[in-house]
Amino acid sequence: MSIISNDISKAKAILEKEDLVAIPTETVYGLAGNAFSEKAIRKIFDTKKRPLFNPLIVHIHAAAVVSELAKDIPEKAYQLAQAFWPGSLTLVLKKKSVVPGLVTAGKDTVAIRVPNHPLTLELLRSLSFPLVAPSANPFGSISPTRAVHVAGYFENTLPLILDGGNCTSGIESTIIGFENQEPVLYRLGAISLEEIEAVIGKVIIKNHKESAPEAPGMLLKHYAPKTRTILVDSVKDFIQHAETEKIGVITFQQKISGTQIIHQEILSEQGDYKEAAANLYDAMHRLDTMKLNLIVAERFPEENLGKSINDRLTRATK
Ligand code: TXA
Ligand code: MG
Repeated sequence: MSIISNDISKAKAILEKEDLVAIPTETVYGLAGNAFSEKAIRKIFDTKKRPLFNPLIVHIHAAAVVSELAKDIPEKAYQLAQAFWPGSLTLVLKKKSVVPGLVTAGKDTVAIRVPNHPLTLELLRSLSFPLVAPSANPFGSISPTRAVHVAGYFENTLPLILDGGNCTSGIESTIIGFENQEPVLYRLGAISLEEIEAVIGKVIIKNHKESAPEAPGMLLKHYAPKTRTILVDSVKDFIQHAETEKIGVITFQQKISGTQIIHQEILSEQGDYKEAAANLYDAMHRLDTMKLNLIVAERFPEENLGKSINDRLTRATK
């Protein structure tokens, strides 16, 4: 059984023994281990059942640490770090040899971010090594935004879940890399493309392939509830013609009625994208426990964090 606690010294002791701890970040909970320990890294891949070709993000406590791990850092990377760290932005940079190949799946680049959570920042400051941390969920399933979500997945395998409350951003970091000096978006996330482009100008958007997630682990099926889930343009229209019973619904703002609906999750009554993103995975987790026949989610407007939410909903429904 995992201990669920906010005791940083316990977390530190476990990590120093090359074991794993679930850590809170502002995006989602991470499954963390010593970034320089092959034993800890292997344990992360084993625990998550994650394929070894999908590289991990290295978490550090301050931008100043980047130069220990990465080289040839483009000017625009500094500008992004300055604007968004600590926060929900991951930078993919040329790696230095201290970063184990197991972390980067053999690539010559490493993904790095400074998370914005007081407990985890204090933990990172207390350690003599950075932490690698993928989201703390089995490969392909819904990411955890609360300590209980992590416990639901790993309570028999993890010694400690560091409880930092509910994640405030609620979806994973935005990932930006550089190809031929040009900024490239590898994953939509908690910082919108509009916010990124306001700092560094136009960003190239990479299309993610299903089989070889050449850049990022954006495998098409991901973040998926166990319950069959579909994404539609209008839940209201769908419900009018639906013959399925016991349906769960996810919408942005709108309340939907229908006798087939058992439970509805409205992600933000005020129509606030940030609030909607923060509620998304928690809503998916809740619906997934309700023994429904079907979850119907409504597509968000394709702007701002609506794009990132649509990305996750699309992958959840493949
Ligand atoms: O918000 C987050 O980023 C969370 C929290 C815990 O920090 N972490 C997270 O990790 O989402 P994970 O492992 O679920 O997703 C990491 C993503 C994958 O899509 C992976 O392919 C990509 O980062 N990635 C890692 N290293 C990369 C690299 N060198 N080049 C391109 N993509 C990389
Ligand atoms: Mg993940």
